[in-house]
Amino acid sequence: MPFGAGAHKCIGMHFGTLEVKTIIAALVRDYEWEIPGDYRMPWGFTTIPFPRDGAPVSLRRSDRLRVAR
Ligand code: HEM
Repeated sequence: MPFGAGAHKCIGMHFGTLEVKTIIAALVRDYEWEIPGDYRMPWGFTTIPFPRDGAPVSLRRSDRLRVAR
């Protein structure tokens, strides 16, 4: 769905999917994520699917990555 459909469907779809997977893998590996437990995302569909409220996620760099001094 994020890449459109029909004759003008995104030609970078497979590369774009790999890029996004790479970015998400790094974010999941290197950051601790927090989001309210009862959060339900209000989807917007005016262009590509997106969270209409900006998604209240906070990311904190994982402790395991901090170098001890
Ligand atoms: C996550 C990354 C990407 C997203 C979400 C995305 C999304 C889209 C969308 C929604 C369209 C319009 C499809 C339609 O009109 O039905 C599109 C078209 C297009 N995208 Fe992407 N795209 C991404 C990455 C890329 C990359 C990496 C490239 C090139 C290397 C690319 C090249 C193009 C081109 C050339 C079109 C126009 C195709 C045409 O009009 O025939 N896109 N893309």
